[in-house]
Amino acid sequence: MAEFSKIEPSYISKDGCRIVWQGVDEDDQHAVILNKDELEGLTELLSKETTGTVELEDEISEIMVNTDTTQFLLKENKILEIKTSSLRKKLLEFRNVPHEPKPVKIYPKEFFPSIEIEDDNEEKQDLLHAVLSLKNQGKVSEDQLFRVMATRRSTRNFDMTRLVEQWKVDKILAAADTAPTAGNFQGFEVVYVKNNEIKKRLIEAANNQPYVNAPVVLVFCMDPSRVKMNFPPDTLAKFSLQDATLAAAYSQLAASALGLSSIWIGMIDEEKVKQIIESDLKPSSILCIGYPQKKRPPKSRRKLKELIRVIE
Ligand SMILES: Cc1cc2nc3c(=O)[nH]c(=O)nc-3n(C[C@H](O)[C@H](O)[C@H](O)COP(=O)(O)O)c2cc1C
Repeated sequence: MAEFSKIEPSYISKDGCRIVWQGVDEDDQHAVILNKDELEGLTELLSKETTGTVELEDEISEIMVNTDTTQFLLKENKILEIKTSSLRKKLLEFRNVPHEPKPVKIYPKEFFPSIEIEDDNEEKQDLLHAVLSLKNQGKVSEDQLFRVMATRRSTRNFDMTRLVEQWKVDKILAAADTAPTAGNFQGFEVVYVKNNEIKKRLIEAANNQPYVNAPVVLVFCMDPSRVKMNFPPDTLAKFSLQDATLAAAYSQLAASALGLSSIWIGMIDEEKVKQIIESDLKPSSILCIGYPQKKRPPKSRRKLKELIRVIE
């Protein structure tokens, strides 16, 4: 696969640039040429360290700057990628814009994990992996996946005197980001509600379920606009619902692995939640997490054989 290699002047676009990807094979070279305005747009996003999109002249292609990776979505479904930190460094150097490499933040922008990494090298180390490989800082053993699955039990009675450690919240959020998503477009967003007044209002938007006031409240929202696939809107909406749901499920399992308990809230008034969290994105579920007042054994399920229908 071709890797990002350089940014150079473009001979066919004055004041623009040529972004080059090089494969192992000498012939395996890909290039995207940006005109002056496109280069300006990309420079602005990268220098402000924000995420966003730059549409290209052909009105089909676009550049999506995400926190970790910038994607060049080109004609005929061709996608080229560059690590955003590498692109920022090379592009700002190319344009002689002074810049300081900053520690990377997890998406959404407002969330600052308890660890920071200097992400100015080109190695594959990134924040997600750094958070996921964080050493256990407590006595809880993160057990094997199947044990976590077999022992998980929802709770509606949280120990409100016990705060959830920040490093656990980091891991729960990072776990959401490991879930598969349609086309890897990550068609979801997580809103981490810390504000107690907002939590109280969410109780009302969740049919007055009082435990929505949990120590950690995460609202999983669907973002079909991120799913850049050429399918009808209802398919993209379905994909983003599945993306958000899977992400919440991964977070729920991660919470269990960390000795916490949770309750999945699906009974929500979507419009009310949108207003409360000030978002245009539809919420799919709220995940409420904390230490349970009492650890309980898992609930029983139907017989496994009854669940499965085999087609031979
Ligand atoms: C899609 C979905 C919606 C749910 N909505 C609610 C809800 O609004 N309120 C609630 O108290 N529990 C809700 N739950 C939690 C379930 O009641 C709970 O997971 C189920 O009883 C099984 O228990 P367990 O998670 O301990 O195995 C929901 C779970 C799912 C998967």
